[in-house]
Amino acid sequence: MPAQTGETPITRNQTLLTWVEEMAALAKPDAIYWCDGSQEEYDRLCAEMVEAGTLMPLNQEKRPGCFLARSDPADVARVENRTFVCPADQADAGPNNNWADPTEMKATLRGLFDGAMQGRTMYVIPFSMGPLGSRIAHIGVQLTDSPYVVASMRTMTRMGRKALETLGDGDFVPCMHSLGAPLALGQADVPWPCNEQKYIVHFPEERAIWSFGSGYGGNALLGKKCFALRIASVMGRDEGWLAEHMLILGLEAPSGEKTYVAAAFPSACGKTNLAMLIPPAGYEGWKVHTVGDDIAWIKPGADGRLYAINPEAGYFGVVPGTSTKTNPNAMKMLERDTIFTNVALTDDGDVWWEGIDGDPPAHLIDWQGKDWTPECGRKAAHPNARFTCSTSRCPSIDPAWDDPDGVPIDAFIFGGRLSHTFPLVYESRDWAHGVYLAATMGSEATAAAADQAAIRRVPMAMLPFCGYNMADYWQHWLTLGGDLGNPPKIFRVNWFRKDDQGRFIWPGFGENMRVLEWIVDRVRGRADAASGPFGVMPRHGDLNWRGLDFSEAAFNEIMDIDREAALRETESQTELFESFKDKLPAALEDERQALAARLGDGEKIWRIAS
Ligand code: OXD
Ligand code: MN
Repeated sequence: MPAQTGETPITRNQTLLTWVEEMAALAKPDAIYWCDGSQEEYDRLCAEMVEAGTLMPLNQEKRPGCFLARSDPADVARVENRTFVCPADQADAGPNNNWADPTEMKATLRGLFDGAMQGRTMYVIPFSMGPLGSRIAHIGVQLTDSPYVVASMRTMTRMGRKALETLGDGDFVPCMHSLGAPLALGQADVPWPCNEQKYIVHFPEERAIWSFGSGYGGNALLGKKCFALRIASVMGRDEGWLAEHMLILGLEAPSGEKTYVAAAFPSACGKTNLAMLIPPAGYEGWKVHTVGDDIAWIKPGADGRLYAINPEAGYFGVVPGTSTKTNPNAMKMLERDTIFTNVALTDDGDVWWEGIDGDPPAHLIDWQGKDWTPECGRKAAHPNARFTCSTSRCPSIDPAWDDPDGVPIDAFIFGGRLSHTFPLVYESRDWAHGVYLAATMGSEATAAAADQAAIRRVPMAMLPFCGYNMADYWQHWLTLGGDLGNPPKIFRVNWFRKDDQGRFIWPGFGENMRVLEWIVDRVRGRADAASGPFGVMPRHGDLNWRGLDFSEAAFNEIMDIDREAALRETESQTELFESFKDKLPAALEDERQALAARLGDGEKIWRIAS
């Protein structure tokens, strides 16, 4: 048995103790360390990582408490093609997941993990997803040989001694992780160990996660996508709740009235920016409060409403594109106590990335540690460069963000990046229609050349994150909402429509507040609207234009529906639906046909009356 250091395990949870022992016998680390989650522990690990070259302290006057990490260039993002969901029956994984037989996969993993931690310490990370002890929260325990993962998990979750105490004798989700880079005796380490071979594997029936070969983000911080979405979506299916790829925000009117909404967007559509929105001119006295920027766990309450928590305690956000224009709150938040991964380094020890305010400096060290000048033709920061920062740093954090009861959700918003056809905002006619709008959500693959870009279906923004057959997930949504007396209203939005010259028509960012206000007013039965083929839509006069000059003509440009394009869209949805064969809920195909019928006849362009 390897030496145990750190916190002596203050747990008598026999399942946990036995599992830790078994995993140590398999991975053969030099030592086992039980994390307590303290600041001292975090500081010590960071100092050790600086020593090892994994972290570089930034200029402490400019960025106190901040570090830069540079990953291996082959370990920079989630690896969806190496991500597996392994229930016994392949049909339960669905066409939306890579599947392998669980027994065979376990054997493969046991082979890979055998001796994988040699020469390293195995850290035991007890963590709570959600406020400690909340009825909506759950506990996980991650084993890892990466101190970068330990430090990140401390920021991203409620981690350490308290989580272990909360666990008591209860159940936890076991999360086994190794970089897959054992060290032979005397072998020198590298700053970012990892393995060419990667496996991110979920066993939904066992509710277990095994991840091998990567130290980056969602591959390695197993509380996030692996637990809080893939495994938790299965728990939600079985227990009657929802684990969603959604931000949660609270809108506070000058009167003090507060309304919470949860919103799903695919990656790279500005979720963090929306979660931290600052109301624009004309909205004096309004506040937007952030509860979460990426994941929501949502459970029905005794009163028939849905209550949501942010299971995370930190943000692992994309850095490039963040500026005082796109997200002033994030810029403030990142001033200190942040780990930056794969951004560029300035000559005075600060960080830089594409899209930050101001002109590019004449010289930088890029994310790979190479000299960079504006003429060199390479990106200075990796497009998936990230910040890891605690929610406690967020200037717009909601006072109730840590409330164990969660916050009541009154509306769901779904949006993709679509340059044509889809209006700025529309509301579903009822719950089933809303589920259809969410299930058929799409996004253009790239921001560039979007005019011709193919629409990638991203149902509920959950395609890479749903831990079971997506058709069953749609049925779960239909059933859950159908059982609620008064389910939240469901909306679709699209900030990204373009004009003939390829320019965005809608100003976006803070101005999205106008759409949010209309949504709040619809929820509260105060706003007028008109009915259109896609759903219920505001007329120009139904939105609040105080502080923004946005003409009715421009409004029409982002609300008009080209019937032929919309019909082609309904037609192309069949490809998605047919891939689920007879598991597809009939209600969704009914909605698709009803939309096609509504679009069927009339003038070429459907325009909302003024
Ligand atoms: C994320 C993602 O990292 O959605 O949050 O890709
Ligand atoms: Mn995400």
